[in-house]
Amino acid sequence: MPPTALVTGSTAGIGAAFARALAAEGHDLVLVARDVTRLESVAAALRERHRVEVEVLPADLTDRAQSRLVEERLADPARPVDVLVNNAGIGLKGRFWETELADQERLLELNCAAVMRLTHAALRGMVPRGTGDVIVVSSTAGYAPGSRGPYAATKAWATAFAEAISGQV
Ligand SMILES: NC(=O)c1ccc[n+]([C@@H]2O[C@H](COP(=O)([O-])OP(=O)(O)OC[C@H]3O[C@@H](n4cnc5c(N)ncnc54)[C@H](OP(=O)(O)O)[C@@H]3O)[C@@H](O)[C@H]2O)c1
Repeated sequence: MPPTALVTGSTAGIGAAFARALAAEGHDLVLVARDVTRLESVAAALRERHRVEVEVLPADLTDRAQSRLVEERLADPARPVDVLVNNAGIGLKGRFWETELADQERLLELNCAAVMRLTHAALRGMVPRGTGDVIVVSSTAGYAPGSRGPYAATKAWATAFAEAISGQV
């Protein structure tokens, strides 16, 4: 049976590139993003080009109930996920105090809390199985938190989190 990879934010940019590369290597895919039409279109193109199975799992990862659906998919022992790519992430324009607090909360939720939740769900199965990979897409901005405001702070966390969990695994 081919391995399965779940990629968040897989309909554009870096996430779409991960999805194409993983499909080209023969992975079946679970694609996560909010826009269902775009998900279906990306999935159809990947099926056609790479002859792999592609599920679409629409979810806004800043919404706890929708995120839970992705966590449940990752934790499903009947359909193991071999590779998790935590890619979905956003930036914010403007200075911290001039932005809406709700936008800052969404930034933290997507770039940090969702990464923590999905990684937790994935490792609960991967570690006992003794196999699996988790990727956290961070940013060089995380090495220069003074340069990019709170976005950079979330990426400093993402890098530190990945290293912390890698040390434990
Ligand atoms: N672009 C860069 O130069 C750069 C540099 C360094 C690091 N990064 C990091 O790389 C990652 C991807 O960046 P990108 O620029 O390639 O992204 P992008 O082109 O803006 O694409 C974002 C993807 O995430 C999905 N998404 C956005 N909000 C979401 C949410 N709340 N829930 C679920 N999915 C969501 C989008 O689809 P929907 O809108 O349909 O949800 C889309 O598929 C991010 O973590 C970013 O911080 C980017």
